[in-house]
Amino acid sequence: MCGIVGFTGKQQAAPILLEGLEKLEYRGYDSAGLAISDGERVNVVKCMGRLAALREKSNNGKSVAGCVGIGHTRWATHGRPSDENSHPHVSENGRIAIVHNGIIENYAQIKEMLINRGRVFKSETDTEVAAQLIDYYYEGSILEAVAKASRELEGSYALGIICADEPETIVGLKSHAPLIVAYGEEGNFFASDVMAVVKYTKTVSYLEDDEIAVVTDKDIKFYTSFLDEIKKEKVTVDWDISSTDKGGYEHYMFKEIMEQPEAVKRTIAPYIIDGRAELSSVLDKAYINSLSRIYIVACGSSYHVGVIAKYNIEKLARVPVEVVLASEFRYCDPIVDKSTLVICISQSGETADTLEAQNEAKRLGALTLAIVNVEGSSIAKSADKVIYTKAGPEIAVATTKAYSTQLAVTILIALYVAECRGTIAAEEYAEIMRQLDVLPVTLEKILADKANIQRLAYQHFNNEDLFFIGRNIDYALSLEGSLKLKEISYIHSEAYPAGELKHGTISLVVDNMLVIAVASYGKLVDKTLSNALEVKARGAHVMGITTDSLRSHVEKATDEIITIPDAHDVLLPSLAVLPLQLFAYYVALYRGCDIDKPRNLAKSVTVE
Ligand code: G6P
Repeated sequence: MCGIVGFTGKQQAAPILLEGLEKLEYRGYDSAGLAISDGERVNVVKCMGRLAALREKSNNGKSVAGCVGIGHTRWATHGRPSDENSHPHVSENGRIAIVHNGIIENYAQIKEMLINRGRVFKSETDTEVAAQLIDYYYEGSILEAVAKASRELEGSYALGIICADEPETIVGLKSHAPLIVAYGEEGNFFASDVMAVVKYTKTVSYLEDDEIAVVTDKDIKFYTSFLDEIKKEKVTVDWDISSTDKGGYEHYMFKEIMEQPEAVKRTIAPYIIDGRAELSSVLDKAYINSLSRIYIVACGSSYHVGVIAKYNIEKLARVPVEVVLASEFRYCDPIVDKSTLVICISQSGETADTLEAQNEAKRLGALTLAIVNVEGSSIAKSADKVIYTKAGPEIAVATTKAYSTQLAVTILIALYVAECRGTIAAEEYAEIMRQLDVLPVTLEKILADKANIQRLAYQHFNNEDLFFIGRNIDYALSLEGSLKLKEISYIHSEAYPAGELKHGTISLVVDNMLVIAVASYGKLVDKTLSNALEVKARGAHVMGITTDSLRSHVEKATDEIITIPDAHDVLLPSLAVLPLQLFAYYVALYRGCDIDKPRNLAKSVTVE
């Protein structure tokens, strides 16, 4: 969601901030702006739309001169996208400008208090309230004013602040929304995430809730909201700048699809020791044996990983697994105690609902394990145990490589829990491990066959409505195939358990409708094919996805076919997801969609 960057140094700030904001575009936004101090005044330029519009309006930043500034990309929450509602917002007298990510929950009460004291407001936003409150408390020290305001503000927010009377300084404050500071050679920064600054520096510190960072060209100081100075650790991040560009591809999404074999290899390698899934450094064996139940909690595609993991863990380890959307888990009074393992899955590590669900699980006494891609993120920091996926920066809003790495981690967990609890035969364990070991090579083979999928996408990109059907893991995977297509091509689609079609959905099947039947799971392939024949009988056009050895069988019930190599059941979704991602990608390409930044979507959803 919203992106924040701040810079203070010796160079012109606006071009650096614009570049930083471009690196945060992936988070999703609908307007953007800058506030730059020229030593006397704070000048603001902002507008609705893409950063290109802001570049044009500010003459590539030249219209706002000065070496100190803050920038913002806004994803509308309070107030529709408009020039006026864009950030930065300034206090009535123009002294304080702020950018904001998150929601200030008690803004209405604060606004009333300020109106009663004569303040006049220009917008309906909670952000303007924060700017006015800081200005209200300003008596010559921006640090003191921010500290006083922070003790009143409630909600989840990260703020970047600049004050005309202290033109060398930018101030950052955070509460339940991410903010980092970064130490450059020619100036210092704050930002929503590392991506915005990695071109200049890899040395960062992570702010904790209710901490304030006072950033100048020379140093960065940290304070509590009661003005006690605190020391913070400097961390070197291992993301390199090349991972934040497109590497010659037309879209980040395509680049990230192609990076999956390497990403999976990097992720699983540390946990495969002597041919075994070795997670004892994360989950103690005695604890695994005392487990009564596992919850998997996540949002979006990460949730879809959980749905597949449920099938795999239950199949191999015979432990009951519940998969719950994080936004539901928080409020469903879950049955959780110390014999429950709660696994939270998140690419960004900042999804507000997942973070709060994890906190709720901890409060109820469960052990929490986070599967997270972004190091130092809030979910990673607050979990009892963490397994990092090593997908590297994922920039396209629609996740691909993070999904695949998460899925691979859940297979390791299924194997480890099954071995600890003695529920898996040695031969089956060895066979899955053997296939896991060569998984990156198998993924490469599937990606090499992309021309076939591109051809099918060309045939079908004009559909406006389609179904994905499957059973068991094939159904679980269909959820992701359908979401990918919806996200980036804006085609309406639904994933349905094939056996459930007859209970209503089949009434929607009309002539020439495309139905994608995922039929890779050998045990249930005939059942799925019967359902495929039912929709064919009603005029649907069926595309089958199956394994090489089932090809001739599935061909009989479908109009066209995509195959993946044969594999053990638990690995099939890891293979079959690639054609589904590619299909969504090519369809969106032929429809001329904004693939990396689909409308209305945000990469990292930091509000409820
Ligand atoms: C957003 C993204 C999805 C992602 C979901 C969960 O909706 O667009 O791609 O799956 O959030 O995000 P997380 O970072 O927690 O995995």
